[in-house]
Amino acid sequence: MTRILHLDASARPGRAGIDPHGSVTRLLTRRVVDRWQAGRPGTHVTYRDVGATPPAPVSGAWIAAAFAPEADHAPWMDDVLAESDQLIEEVRAADVLVLGVPLYNFSMPSAFKAWIDNIIRVGRTVIVNPDTPEEPYTPLLADRPVILVVSRGGFGMNEGGPLAHMNHLEASVRTALGFIGLTSVHEVAVEYQELGGDLLAASLRDAETRLDELVMSLQSRAPARAPAPPHSLSA
Ligand SMILES: Cc1cc2nc3c(=O)[nH]c(=O)nc-3n(C[C@H](O)[C@H](O)[C@H](O)COP(=O)(O)O)c2cc1C
Repeated sequence: MTRILHLDASARPGRAGIDPHGSVTRLLTRRVVDRWQAGRPGTHVTYRDVGATPPAPVSGAWIAAAFAPEADHAPWMDDVLAESDQLIEEVRAADVLVLGVPLYNFSMPSAFKAWIDNIIRVGRTVIVNPDTPEEPYTPLLADRPVILVVSRGGFGMNEGGPLAHMNHLEASVRTALGFIGLTSVHEVAVEYQELGGDLLAASLRDAETRLDELVMSLQSRAPARAPAPPHSLSA
């Protein structure tokens, strides 16, 4: 059985072309999950809507708790970290992550950044080794495919595009996920959302084709794996 973590980060609740003012990324992440389930009946999906319900941002209490040795944890520390624990567990339990992330002001939405900040935890998803400065970081999560679906209102921000230097989304997501072990990030972006018309339609068609091919390719490569034990460090 494959287990998917399906996450949407758009602040817009509906899907483009279906609901008024709907979200392009929500439209496409749903398509990916539907295609995956069609090819692998029995796929289990965990849905996390950080656009609708953003995780709590990192606070002073969160930092104190996250950096305290587990053995010294006071009960309030476990309470403060409960949401982070849950979000990490969702990632750990997934074979595939499908992330829908809009471009907001040249980077990721704050709700998605809160999710990133909650899943990067020293001692839980990464180890920092000050004694080996040449190789200070050891990621603790096993690699697994991440399908990153992006939408932009403008255009020219794909790699090599004239405005690529203004786009700080995909690179920062890749860096953050790679830090904890998720290095297999597959990116598909739609452009022209704010312009609409034929340019948007062509960009959407292209993204749909690429995502459908990606699902087929990942399914042909990935044998369904047995579920990981819930607290396994290396899962
Ligand atoms: C707050 C905000 C900031 C945005 N910033 C940018 C931007 O920097 N560059 C861009 O091309 N589009 C920008 N857009 C447009 C969105 O990227 C575009 O509407 C995209 O389709 C949003 O994803 P969604 O359709 O899944 O909601 C912005 C939209 C919002 C709401």
